[in-house]
Amino acid sequence: MPAFQTVRGMRDLIGEEAEAFTHIITKARETALLYGYKEAITPHVEPLELLSAKSGEEIRQRMFIFKDLGERLVALRPEFTASIARLATTSLKNEPKPLRLFSVGTVYRYDEPQRGRYREFWQSNFELMGSAKPEGDAEIVLITNNLMKSLGLHSYAFKIGHIGVIRGILSQDGVDEKTQNAVLQRMDKKEYEAALKLVESDKCRSMLEGLIAIRGNDWLDTVEQLQTYLAGYEKAKSAVDNLAEVLKLVTQSSELTVTVEPAFARGLEYYTGMIFEIHIPGLDIALGGGGRYDKLIEAFGGEPTPGVGCAHGIDRIAIALQTQKTVIDAKIGKKVVVVPITETMKSEALKIAQQLRAAGITVEFEVMGRKMAKSLEDADKRKADYAVIVGERELAEGAVVLKELANRQQTTIPIEKLGEKIKS
Ligand code: HAM
Repeated sequence: MPAFQTVRGMRDLIGEEAEAFTHIITKARETALLYGYKEAITPHVEPLELLSAKSGEEIRQRMFIFKDLGERLVALRPEFTASIARLATTSLKNEPKPLRLFSVGTVYRYDEPQRGRYREFWQSNFELMGSAKPEGDAEIVLITNNLMKSLGLHSYAFKIGHIGVIRGILSQDGVDEKTQNAVLQRMDKKEYEAALKLVESDKCRSMLEGLIAIRGNDWLDTVEQLQTYLAGYEKAKSAVDNLAEVLKLVTQSSELTVTVEPAFARGLEYYTGMIFEIHIPGLDIALGGGGRYDKLIEAFGGEPTPGVGCAHGIDRIAIALQTQKTVIDAKIGKKVVVVPITETMKSEALKIAQQLRAAGITVEFEVMGRKMAKSLEDADKRKADYAVIVGERELAEGAVVLKELANRQQTTIPIEKLGEKIKS
């Protein structure tokens, strides 16, 4: 039989890489706790209808779809938002608002695999449901800022826009929703020429062209520019006003770098308001993104409930941490190997190993039955700090030999002092 490989676009994460993921997930969970978000664990497999209803063409074309043995058309979740919106219309329907829900896990998209783009990837996801206020939008942006900061990332910047600006311009010109979605999809991919080709009216096209040229790091200045530019486009202007309120809240309460880009769009179709992404220099892919979706829950048959949320790409954050050489301050205390000198010492040695673990020390027990020299050689390779050697003679006096592997110095030490000594 040939050696098996992972399915294209899916990866094994081993050792340090897996630890980096766990570290990011831990920080995301801590952030959720700080902001009062409850964790929700939902299935990886959902009805196709739920996942495709409002996600948009981009996601619909990339789902892993199959029929289960009961002939149900199902798919692997490509994101969390649809599942959480399902919860808001079913089991959490009567919960007091706002709902704050956090999820973390793998999601699946049939993307073209490359660095930072996989077919199975991890997201940490935050959804705030029930608030239509700019402070809701601000909370989601601040959560993202908090997570990036707590991970030690630097030089990251938020790209912020509002889906209502482009839609406002298009709808004033009578462009139907389907065409609007097609335009937005191309704008999301920065295929501006293709996007503009879909717009028939010259005036509307030139409005969009002008919009694409407007962007800036001074949000007040960019907002003022936009308000002048959009004179006569009331819907688009009120979208800018709403964006300005969100920007005011986030910039006055926190330190963060923001670029306002009114022509920026996102691949998902359910957005109705503020949208954002997070980027770092030198990495051409977003570390996370999100936005406001005020019509999704009602489209799923629930009471009209506004919502805003975001997801962070854990695989990409791991790359960013590596790129920025951010040291992960993961646990890693002292590591010890415990080696019985003879067969008869095995139980006693195991007992000591258990005592050390109970004291919070990482212990690798000699499970290969190797002789001392081989075992110590292996301990060096595994980067252990100490070897605890359990021999009959010392044990008779309630002691063991503790060998510091870096300098090969060894001392005989009473078992009850062992944990303390290793930790010191
Ligand atoms: P999204 O922008 O599609 O938004 O995905 C969020 C993040 O997932 C991206 O910014 C990126 O970091 C990561 N990501 C996306 N595709 C891939 C891939 N193929 N490989 C690795 N990482 C990837 C959503 O999923 C929305 N549900 C966010 C949201 C929540 N909006 C409102 N609530």
